[in-house]
Amino acid sequence: MDQRFRLFPEQASNLGRDVDQLYLFLWTLTAFFTLLIFVLVVYLGLRYRRRSEAMPPRSHVSNALEITWTIVPLVIVIGIFFWSTSIYVKMSRYPADAMNIYIIGKQWMWKAQHPAGPREINALHVPVGRPVKLTMTSQDVIHSYFIPAFRVKQDVLPGRYSYQWFTPTKVGTYHLFCAEYCGAQHSGMVGEIVVMEEAKYQAWLTGAVRDEPSAAAAGQKLFYQYQCNTCHGERAPTMAGLYQSKVQLSDGRTVVADDNYLRESILDAPATLVAGYPPIMPSYRGQLNEEQVNQLMEYIKSLKVPERNY
Ligand code: CUA
Repeated sequence: MDQRFRLFPEQASNLGRDVDQLYLFLWTLTAFFTLLIFVLVVYLGLRYRRRSEAMPPRSHVSNALEITWTIVPLVIVIGIFFWSTSIYVKMSRYPADAMNIYIIGKQWMWKAQHPAGPREINALHVPVGRPVKLTMTSQDVIHSYFIPAFRVKQDVLPGRYSYQWFTPTKVGTYHLFCAEYCGAQHSGMVGEIVVMEEAKYQAWLTGAVRDEPSAAAAGQKLFYQYQCNTCHGERAPTMAGLYQSKVQLSDGRTVVADDNYLRESILDAPATLVAGYPPIMPSYRGQLNEEQVNQLMEYIKSLKVPERNY
């Protein structure tokens, strides 16, 4: 890992250049106006100092001047607004083919779960050149998943999912930080992002998979262990094809069954009761940890069969 001091971290993702160009522009703009003001202060201070012969011209209102120094900054900041918004939009819309990895923050470590099975702590292995989406939540307080070399940083919140995505562009090992003060060991909540060639990544995945069931398989086990299967499909809605479909709730709302909906339904079923079903599902809050919720979600997502009977 790069331990040298540098003003800019390495650029190792598809978002790096966008962020750096904007940052460089803001930096140059600020430097330009700061210098301009300093030079003028010194120059005018000397030229019109008390014992100078030169007399300042009588001041008078100049509309042209007023309009100029209103319009020019206005155009500049509106430009910056659209520029930065376009980058923000790019960062918040993850590609449909992005590979999904679950991240859980807890005091004080980062856990990652690959859908294929492997879990890691304070590390994340990703292939180069493929878009990666992180589905992140926290087990306790607010953390923030920060990979400087990728120019991405996203808060990780307890009780809901947040996301970020990137396409690594350079093989290597990069810093991972927690960027939100989260308690005594916050500064130790660090790790490594390992970007590998596709073939090496597949080898790593296969090697790591050997002793881990896939996330969906682990979820399926939980599904039967908690006897979800005894109701779902009959007295409760089937899970097949549920993910990302529209659901009519008993309180009249229609919602999309996304990650946060599934999470709420698992942990707090009464709040998301589907129209036409009895309120028999208990709350599983406190019985399932974040990893298990993710595994159940992965299992539910894997049930793509469009045999919905409600
Ligand atoms: Cu986790 Cu700071």
